[in-house]
Amino acid sequence: MKAVIFDLDGVITDTAEYHFQAWGSLAAALSIPFDREFNEQLKGISRTESLEKILVRGNLSDTLSEEGKQELAMQKNTEYQRLISALTPADVLPGIKALLKELREARIGIALASASKNAAFILDRLELAHYFDSVVDVTAIRNGKPDPEIFLAGAANLGVQPADCIGIEDAQAGIQAIKGAGMFAVGVGTPSQMQGADIVVATTAELSLSMLEEHFYEFKK
Ligand code: BG6
Ligand code: MG
Repeated sequence: MKAVIFDLDGVITDTAEYHFQAWGSLAAALSIPFDREFNEQLKGISRTESLEKILVRGNLSDTLSEEGKQELAMQKNTEYQRLISALTPADVLPGIKALLKELREARIGIALASASKNAAFILDRLELAHYFDSVVDVTAIRNGKPDPEIFLAGAANLGVQPADCIGIEDAQAGIQAIKGAGMFAVGVGTPSQMQGADIVVATTAELSLSMLEEHFYEFKK
């Protein structure tokens, strides 16, 4: 086990909840039904893809122009940025900072593979940026999750083989991406939301270097 590649929203901090709230406000303004079950499909995918899924659900996709869609995506992002502007280091999810410290001390590579264009801002707010050897530049990624590209880029940036990496995700699309990259997949959530994960934890508080190593080497046997 040479590297751990983290998703951000819903793994390092609970911004998955803020994405949910911001999309919820937009959907309500457009009179489109929106709930947590539907929101699961939006986790891990880009802003434009998320908007498209919401608009298709409301039968509005064909009636809006590209400019109209861009305006809606911007409205959602404005609301999302308002919500994340108040993030502090206290918003790091349980167990994450301790894990980052353990990984650093053990000289295990650490990368971020987030679909979010707000990722660098959030890492700064949480005061975690210095733990990361690499933050994959999402604007340089052609195929979003569930495509493995972003996780493969993380491994390449760290100079390690995908088979020697663990990926941690809270989205079904993210688990697919990790497995597609040939990595060991850790899901945060419920087993039904994390299909295909090699292990699933209910919360990040369960994560530690020793538990990751134990499961990783058991899997490799
Ligand atoms: C992912 C989230 O990390 O980033 C998605 O799981 C979100 O919900 C995506 O849509 C893009 O984020 P942003 O901040 O660029 O709109
Ligand atoms: Mg996520």
